[in-house]
Amino acid sequence: MTVPSLASSLSAAVTTAAVALPGFAPLVRRSERADFQVDGALAAARTLRRNPRDVAAEIVAGLPVGGLVATAEVAGPGFVNLGLTDAALLSQVAGRLADPRLGVGTPEAGVTTVVDYSQPNIAKEMHVGHLRSTIIGDALVRILEHLGGTVVRRNHVGDWGTQFGMLIQYRSEHPAPVTEDTSLRGLALLYRRARAAFDADPAFAERSRRRVVALQGGDPETTRAWQQIVAESTRYFTEVYDLLGVRLTAADAVGESAYNAALPGVAADLAAQRTAVTSDGALCVFFDDVRGPDGEPTPLIVRKRDGGFGYAATDLAALRQRVTELRADRLLYVVDARQALHFRMVFDTARRAGWLPSDVPAAHVAFGTVLGPDGRPFKTRAGDTVRLVDLLTEAVDRAREVVAAKNPDLTDAARDERARQVGIGAVKYADLATSRTRDYTYDPDRMLALTGNTGVYLQYAHARVRSILARADGADETVDPGVALDPAERALILDLDAFADVLDEVVAGYEPHRLCGHLHRLAQSFTTFYERCPVLRAESPYRGNRLALCRLTGDTLRTGLGLLGIDAPERL
Ligand code: ARG
Repeated sequence: MTVPSLASSLSAAVTTAAVALPGFAPLVRRSERADFQVDGALAAARTLRRNPRDVAAEIVAGLPVGGLVATAEVAGPGFVNLGLTDAALLSQVAGRLADPRLGVGTPEAGVTTVVDYSQPNIAKEMHVGHLRSTIIGDALVRILEHLGGTVVRRNHVGDWGTQFGMLIQYRSEHPAPVTEDTSLRGLALLYRRARAAFDADPAFAERSRRRVVALQGGDPETTRAWQQIVAESTRYFTEVYDLLGVRLTAADAVGESAYNAALPGVAADLAAQRTAVTSDGALCVFFDDVRGPDGEPTPLIVRKRDGGFGYAATDLAALRQRVTELRADRLLYVVDARQALHFRMVFDTARRAGWLPSDVPAAHVAFGTVLGPDGRPFKTRAGDTVRLVDLLTEAVDRAREVVAAKNPDLTDAARDERARQVGIGAVKYADLATSRTRDYTYDPDRMLALTGNTGVYLQYAHARVRSILARADGADETVDPGVALDPAERALILDLDAFADVLDEVVAGYEPHRLCGHLHRLAQSFTTFYERCPVLRAESPYRGNRLALCRLTGDTLRTGLGLLGIDAPERL
């Protein structure tokens, strides 16, 4: 049985206290001045044409004091400040201790979400933009699944387009150098050389164009060459995913090419409905509010003048398939903020076409740019995109130094494993902890700092709790609700209890940084608690209560980090 959070129990109590106030919707939240604050009296007073402080006073008068609520008073223009009893806080701890899910329910049960994330492009290096999509997408997937939801992962790999003509053609003309080196470095090299030849040699460009036609026409030899390139890239992406520890497998990769067969149908249906119209030879969808700098409408192009289909048509086909065949109740696209207009137009088109019912939300989970030390988009000194593997390897190498400095006696294998957990955790946490639409600066020193809002700090806090529990040697963690609480214990309990509510907030806005902020606050509350309240040296019944708090803190940190895709080792 999941025990409701203190905020939701209070919300229920306040609602009961306010039955006589029609239109009163309490909003209970943590407060600086009291344990909780209730908002809503002001809004209710406006509709009732009453004095807000009187409305607040009525709520206070209706609240039974003793069990849950210790103090209730009107504050400011019409807020209600609430203090909870120590006994209520401690029984809440007892309830949480008996619940392996830490109070987290399954609000997502029965809901299918399709999450489109990672989406690297075949034969190109994965860059930091793909890293962000992969990390944020993975965290959202884990959280939705933990809340009982069904998630379908879609790695919308860029595996189609005219560039494959030149890649295949170049490779068929220069088989030797690329078959030797089958890593993506090799493929990226192939891409660069093919591009150069394409730009410099009109005859090669023409042969490449014929290759595109052959590929689109399903010519067996060309198709085989394409499949080989896709397979090589996919192998490489899988290595990066394994290093990152994200839940993406080859089975989740449904590339753009998978929708090819559906594209003519998409175009025909949109044209038949008149959602799309022919303009200048292209099949286009127009929007009243989307115009270029010249004031001319900017359309979404479904089919180009030459009859070819592009990025937009593929997304429309994918969206339709996700709603009809995958039976999605919600669609998420974790993609760079610069594609905002594209998704607005795709979603709008799909709504007009009737492919996206009004009860199926579609969200562009947009994210900002990763900046380098110079404040510009993160690039290598030579101006190339930073290879993801290089970046991750560097983070793990630096983490190895941090780990080795703390634990000189570790075996090589243990040090490597911990370096991976810390280094990858640091990269992920730095990414997830900033509000996702903001740009952030990639700074390995700050990312791996032992203090501050970092993954390492949280891993360290978790390890410290685990070591306290280990030293307690399984001593009892039973809660005695009759004990008076220290303010630091109260603060810690209130933070622990908010875990489930925070996860709901994360899902409401697709904002993993709220979970990061919560875990960071929790770790700080724990530090204050541990400085003020002896645990192992305490007498019974304090000892049992405090061990229970240690247990819950450790479990919450581990579960929370796990939902962010970050390991929580027992020791650091
Ligand atoms: N492959 C694209 C890129 O690298 C991102 C794809 C995003 N997903 C989508 N359904 N359009 O920019």
